[in-house]
Amino acid sequence: MRTVGVGIVGFGAVGRATASIISQHADLIERRSGVKLEVTMICRRSGVKPQDVPGGARFVSDWRELVRAPEVELIVEVMGGTDQSLQLVRAALEAGKPVVTANKNLLAEHGDDVFALAVSRNLPIGFEASVASSIPIVRVMHESTAGDRIFSVHGILNGTANYILTQMENRGIEFDKALLEAQEEGYAEADPSLDIDGIDSRDKLCILTRMAFGGRLSISRISTCGIRQIRVADVHAVNRRDSTIRLIGSAENTASGIEVSVRPWMISRQSLLARVQGVNNAVFVSGSKIGTQMLYGRGAGGDATGAVVVSDLMEIARDLVQGHLKAKNVSGFVDSPELEVCEKPRPVRWYLGLNAKDERGIVARVAEVINRLDIHIESLGQEPRVSKDELSLGITVDPAPEPLICRAVTAINAFEFMVRPVLLLRIE
Ligand code: HSE
Repeated sequence: MRTVGVGIVGFGAVGRATASIISQHADLIERRSGVKLEVTMICRRSGVKPQDVPGGARFVSDWRELVRAPEVELIVEVMGGTDQSLQLVRAALEAGKPVVTANKNLLAEHGDDVFALAVSRNLPIGFEASVASSIPIVRVMHESTAGDRIFSVHGILNGTANYILTQMENRGIEFDKALLEAQEEGYAEADPSLDIDGIDSRDKLCILTRMAFGGRLSISRISTCGIRQIRVADVHAVNRRDSTIRLIGSAENTASGIEVSVRPWMISRQSLLARVQGVNNAVFVSGSKIGTQMLYGRGAGGDATGAVVVSDLMEIARDLVQGHLKAKNVSGFVDSPELEVCEKPRPVRWYLGLNAKDERGIVARVAEVINRLDIHIESLGQEPRVSKDELSLGITVDPAPEPLICRAVTAINAFEFMVRPVLLLRIE
């Protein structure tokens, strides 16, 4: 049986898991793909513990050496970032070596260049692991739903954020502790602000939106807000409305263009999204013929992501051995037209969580701002006191366009009595 040499660049949680799955599942890989995978080289700039390097593999600290090495035929890019990783992927393709990557940031920012180069060299890029880790959503978008007209893609796309929100809710632990746990579990990005500020979800949503609607989309067009500002008290305030909070990426095709955003939503506890707990992700795809599909599974973690990297490697290694390597024409990249992004999103309902110093006339002043913008208050309630001189208000409003509610939030935030900025949640 032919052995295919694999080089792994980046040896964090995903890189280590990939190497270990290749060794642990060697029999299964051979049986299912007809090839033997062997990790022949590992690259990490900051070095690795000798005991972590798989037997027989060589360790290098410069990825250029790995790209040149004849014993490396397939390259796994799990180093993250967009600078060195872009150079690496280009060099690999130019050297005629297919790439498997889990790097959503790279594809969201430079996917057009990367896929164009892959097409010009007729080489495949495996990128299933770049979106929602274990969930096979890339294959679904590329193959299974390709025959339908897609209306919308939305869901929970970041495991770390979902872990934090659900741990805050279920165990009452504060944000920082939940984030630390997510980092210890190997769910978070090396820079966790990518997770908690919604950037990671934005990049994944950008890839899905392009594939779903067949057009190019710059990440700068995706309105993005994360979960950094959410406290346990906010989660409990929303719980009292029989709802919960989830970070949602959403792209919808409307008559006036694509509405696309990442932001925290207030979700009914009866909703399927509310049942997505811990590190899990869920993606909903709706099309004119398929109706709505929900894909659910682990959204982060070395093993879950590494297993998907290995599946991509198996497919490409089999084609390599059979002499069938072929570039994939990925919808929404390279020569696709620019997607039209909706400038005036449709009105939706909103929840505003306010923390203010306990002074007279606060409710009237907040209501006045909202009223002046012609937004209708649907409900207004005072939450149990956080402290003796601080009060919390929860307000829901009738459907209003995002720019209008943002104007209200800006005006409320300017009040001297506000203890922290308004928590704005879109209501599902
Ligand atoms: N940090 C990412 C997450 C990893 O938590 O979802 C998977 O992309």
